[in-house]
Amino acid sequence: MKTIIANWKMNVGVRESVALARGTLLTLRGRKHIPELIICPPFVALSEVRKVVARSGVALGAQNVFWAESGSYTGEISTRMLEELGVGHVIIGHSERRHYLGETNEMVNKKVLHVLASQVTPIICVGETREEHEAGETMQVVSEQLKRACLNVRLRAHDRLCIAYEPLWAIGTGDAANVSEVLETHRLIRSIFQELFGAQSTSQVRVLYGGSVDQGNAYSFLREPEVDGVLVGSASVKINQFKDIVHAACEVLEAQFL
Ligand code: PGA
Repeated sequence: MKTIIANWKMNVGVRESVALARGTLLTLRGRKHIPELIICPPFVALSEVRKVVARSGVALGAQNVFWAESGSYTGEISTRMLEELGVGHVIIGHSERRHYLGETNEMVNKKVLHVLASQVTPIICVGETREEHEAGETMQVVSEQLKRACLNVRLRAHDRLCIAYEPLWAIGTGDAANVSEVLETHRLIRSIFQELFGAQSTSQVRVLYGGSVDQGNAYSFLREPEVDGVLVGSASVKINQFKDIVHAACEVLEAQFL
């Protein structure tokens, strides 16, 4: 299976989200083997988009969550609220939140623990800066982020996690990481899981790549067995580009059945 996550960020309002959700559903039309598709609109559009994707097989995700169930946390949203809206996945620790809102590894960890106690699946984002990349520190940074995100996590048999490896220098720049670097980092992520939670845990985690995934490079990532999917930002709000990305996943899946 391949997973495609569309992160619409703060790029669309409610009306545009509804139109984009309709367009996204159409990308699957006529395809025999389809990827798992998770769309993450802004919070304000979740309930309207939910109506569009109802019974379609396309899943709803959120872009952020808080770490408490309820209480005096102005402006925040809990997993209980997300569940009420039919949200099955939530992005945690996206680099834009780390950068603009000061989200730390500790906060990411609190969110991961809170989300794993709910029915929602966390999508944990990790990735190094350009300076760290150039200094050859990618493995160290990703390992540290992942271990701190998973601190005190007791993985139960039914828990599922997604890890999105998103190098900061690749996000929104048009400069995607090369496939061999992505594979190396994905292997590291899986080995950390094995170290933290045992060999069987690797079947509970999906490892994705994100950062300037577009219609030109999606296939080269998706055809790799070690890449469980992609997290798409900019190209996910341009329906013609997104259609090609979805079709690249369909082609990979269809080729497995030839
Ligand atoms: P991008 O964003 O596809 O625009 O690089 C990816 C992300 O931020 O998740």
